[in-house]
Amino acid sequence: MGGMLVSIRDLTLRLPSGGRTLSVLDGVSLDVDAGEAVAVAGPSGSGKSTLLGLVAGLDAPTSGTIVVAGVEVTRLGEAALARFRREMLGYVFQSYHLIPTLTAAENVAVPFDLAGTAGATARTADLLASVGLGDRGHHYPVQLSGGEQQRVAVARAMALDPPLLLADEPTGNLDSATGGAIIDLLFALNRDRGTTLLLVTHDEALAERADRVVSLRDGRIAGERRRAGALAP
Ligand SMILES: Nc1ncnc2c1ncn2[C@@H]1O[C@H](COP(=O)(O)OP(=O)(O)OP(=O)(O)O)[C@@H](O)[C@H]1O
Ligand SMILES: [Mg+2]
Repeated sequence: MGGMLVSIRDLTLRLPSGGRTLSVLDGVSLDVDAGEAVAVAGPSGSGKSTLLGLVAGLDAPTSGTIVVAGVEVTRLGEAALARFRREMLGYVFQSYHLIPTLTAAENVAVPFDLAGTAGATARTADLLASVGLGDRGHHYPVQLSGGEQQRVAVARAMALDPPLLLADEPTGNLDSATGGAIIDLLFALNRDRGTTLLLVTHDEALAERADRVVSLRDGRIAGERRRAGALAP
């Protein structure tokens, strides 16, 4: 733990919108320490998903910088970006994004296949067991409940043990009990492996577990609160 993992400075994204310019993000600055769990809250359309997407290099900002583990994401070319994502990031989406034609085990193994990692079968089995799905590896996504699919998605995101896990409303499609299991899983990764979490959420139960909650409004940071008992930097 310790040290800054993510440093976002003056991040601005403007998009043309019906003859006008829409400021989706407007001068956002945010630092996240290694090992920290930060939740991003805010109303619909405030720019939360856009912020996560920029951190992952899925989109390029109009101005500003994002540095992750010393790498300026905003300056990477396609090949370097692909490598950055593979080595540094796990990404979990609200709607799971599993590949429907692959079994649960094959979905979890995708990052190993892309990275050309040996011994993927045993590690895939370990990952599935760690999310409580050790006996479901042969099932296709359609044969799994929403919560089970999301557990597969978390296992896949953790396959290469990334230092940073980005999650965009990971419990947004789940009932509170099922969402609770996903929350436990994410914070177990944070606690046991020191995985840094940057989580977008409307879910109070999820936000409550974070060290810090940053609120966005109209593309700007509107406020920040720190969990009682969380260590100050
Ligand atoms: N590619 C795009 N083209 C046009 N507008 C966009 C684009 N991407 C995002 N926006 C706009 O930027 C704003 C922020 O979108 P974003 O998806 O980041 O919001 P959000 O905070 O994640 O909302 P929600 O809680 O509904 O998921 C919205 O008004 C959205 O319509
Ligand atoms: Mg969103």
